Amino acid sequence: MNKKGYFICIEGLDGCGKTTQAKLLALKLRKRYNAVYTAEPSCGKIGTFIRKRYLYGEKRLSSMIEALLFAADRLEHVENEVLPALRQGRLVISDRYVYSSLAYQGAAGLSLDWIEKINEHALPADFAVFIDVDPRLVMQRLKRTRSVMENLETQQKVREVYLRFVEKGALVRVDGNRPKTEVAAALLAAVLNFLKVQC
Ligand code: TYD
Repeated sequence: MNKKGYFICIEGLDGCGKTTQAKLLALKLRKRYNAVYTAEPSCGKIGTFIRKRYLYGEKRLSSMIEALLFAADRLEHVENEVLPALRQGRLVISDRYVYSSLAYQGAAGLSLDWIEKINEHALPADFAVFIDVDPRLVMQRLKRTRSVMENLETQQKVREVYLRFVEKGALVRVDGNRPKTEVAAALLAAVLNFLKVQC
């Protein structure tokens, strides 16, 4: 696989600010670590299908089909974007990764073991952060968006699954219920701490 760089993923509820934070982090670490921002669903064929036809479309697919599509998109994302950048020694910052499938499709009722199984060939992230924001706050922020994943009960369930992985030590929790600059500083500190231990 010849991976030289580090692979970091940023997770959280819709509307938690993770896209803003992940992009800001990539910007801050661009010079020193040649960081690059990427996201799931990816901009590949399967990711584009997921966004256009399903996330903002009218008809929902079954949770199992959703999970398989996200897992397929993930393999394409890793092969086409993540691994090439890692091989160049870059720091890859992914806005969502496997934990999104565990949290969202897990919250929809699928077994976490099965979700892990269908994602077993996805490159493991080196470091994963959960930006934790109160589901009621994200619902206020999301009033204008239309993703099929968004309602309070779903967001609460999704958060519960994320927190399980925080408890296991797989995800590092960053408190997102603060001003944007404070969240950015906490996220940067967590990532720099991880990178310091590696070097
Ligand atoms: P999101 O990060 O909100 O994308 P954007 O803001 O650019 O539209 O992600 C889109 C949605 O996809 C979000 O509601 C979570 C969902 N999702 C899953 O359910 N499972 C997954 O594996 C991934 C990657 C995303």
